[in-house]
Amino acid sequence: MPTGALPDRPPWWRRAVVYEVYLRSFQDSDGDGMGDVDGLRSRIPYLAGLGVDAVWVTPWYPSPLADGGYDISDHRDIDPRLGTLGQVDALIAEAHAAGLRLVVDLVANHTSAQHPWFVAALTGGPGAPERERYFFRDGRAGGELPPNDWISAFGGPAWTRVREPDGRPGQWYLHLFAPEQPDLDWAHEAVRAEFDDVLRFWLDRGVDGIRVDAAPAMAKLPGLPDAGHAPGALFASSEWVDNPHWDVDAVHEIFRRWRRIGDAYPGDRLFVSEAVVNGPDRLSRYVRPDELHTTFNFDYLKAPWDARRLREVVQGTLDALRPVGAPPTWVLSSHDETRHVTRFGRADSGAATMGFDTPGAPADLDLGLRRARAAALLTLALPGGTYLYQGEELGLPEVEDLPEHVLTDPTWERSGRTARGRDGCRVPIPWSGDAPPFGFTADGVEPWLPQPAGWSTLTVAAQEADPGSTLRLHRTALRLRRELPDLAGEDLRWLEAGEDVLAFRRGRRFRCLVNLSATPVPLPGDGAVALASADVGDRLPPDTAVWLLDG
Ligand code: NOJ
Ligand code: MG
Repeated sequence: MPTGALPDRPPWWRRAVVYEVYLRSFQDSDGDGMGDVDGLRSRIPYLAGLGVDAVWVTPWYPSPLADGGYDISDHRDIDPRLGTLGQVDALIAEAHAAGLRLVVDLVANHTSAQHPWFVAALTGGPGAPERERYFFRDGRAGGELPPNDWISAFGGPAWTRVREPDGRPGQWYLHLFAPEQPDLDWAHEAVRAEFDDVLRFWLDRGVDGIRVDAAPAMAKLPGLPDAGHAPGALFASSEWVDNPHWDVDAVHEIFRRWRRIGDAYPGDRLFVSEAVVNGPDRLSRYVRPDELHTTFNFDYLKAPWDARRLREVVQGTLDALRPVGAPPTWVLSSHDETRHVTRFGRADSGAATMGFDTPGAPADLDLGLRRARAAALLTLALPGGTYLYQGEELGLPEVEDLPEHVLTDPTWERSGRTARGRDGCRVPIPWSGDAPPFGFTADGVEPWLPQPAGWSTLTVAAQEADPGSTLRLHRTALRLRRELPDLAGEDLRWLEAGEDVLAFRRGRRFRCLVNLSATPVPLPGDGAVALASADVGDRLPPDTAVWLLDG
């Protein structure tokens, strides 16, 4: 597609609002305390009523759950605790009937250590052809030390030594995430062919899109040279340049191959990548016209509540993506990040990754919620697509006081119990009622992660009844976003409104103003307020956003 030009009818994903479902925590249907496919099916009316365009479901495949389902032992089936392929077929049909698209999660950088391929690689021993699909190497210093200095995203080295079939300590294998997630070697044709088939398996079932997990990890520099990491270094992929295990150029061949597969299907099938790389220019390479369609925007997610930085990220993203013709996406929260109500209530409001936050940093949750509501209007007014993480529409905070014995995230142990990890953003959704489990599962059943008793005012039912609620704010914003013709295009023009105020115009009549300063600012008199994140008079209070429509 030529630069900047749009087809007559832009494909749905150019401006879609995609709702992320972390399935185990969304809605339980069978009373086992864990969300499941039929639970999600029962909530399709809720999602359609909310006004989102699509649902992305995090991995639902058979998994030993060493990393919340991102450790997959069979890519072509559903974990029996979560449902069946038959239920998924029904889900896809029912979602489509309700006007919702469905995006599945593809984890192709690694498998579970219990995947039959890895089991065969272990039992085959050194030199076995089954080891070639992964990275098995001899250690340094006579085998005692890891083959190189690469590190895991969850902390610690990226290599684990195996015990060989004869019982002796032997080779090492690579895992950029947990040891239970061995990395596949994408230079091996058998790996590529296998995932061609996995893609077709899900596209044949009718899914509308595929989210590509850990996309920049999938190619490694041949020879696996040291990265030069300092001892004890943390995974900081947004800062790395010329790193041998992240964002290596050869990764793009894989996406070209996948794009050809997706394009052979009818309808606008979407690929969206998870790619935390160094700046928008590197990111734009994932969405060149013959690669993936869109990619999550982590620079936006990581940005603190600061007008100058947010404006720089928005403009930098638009500038970097324009030459490749891809639409931006905007993301504030996910199953991997501290919920932004909490983050925006902290003195340091930028995001860390994978739960590596400052432990116990104080958070003013009233302030955080106020900012999160303003951020919702900012985000939904930007051109391109948006991702909403389940519970974001309710203004849920991070649960920071989960008892240690319930924590499941590998970050917790691998950081030497200094970083609590991501369980606190994965606490099950409160739907109704005055006490846990708040309609998430059957009364009397303990959800797999405990919900705070204080969430009774945050339930969907409570917020339905309150016209000022965060849920109702989202619903109205999503409706206006669909209805207002000015928001259909991909333009954005900044307006001058003071240093700590973000102000921009979309189309002819629409303006969005966000006050990130500590004092109220005058509202321009010449526009009608279509929606505001808090009460406004003739002035826009701090941490408040407004949508204005000119006459
Ligand atoms: C990104 C996923 O979002 C995260 O949850 C997971 O731990 C890693 N990739 C590894 O698959
Ligand atoms: Mg269940």
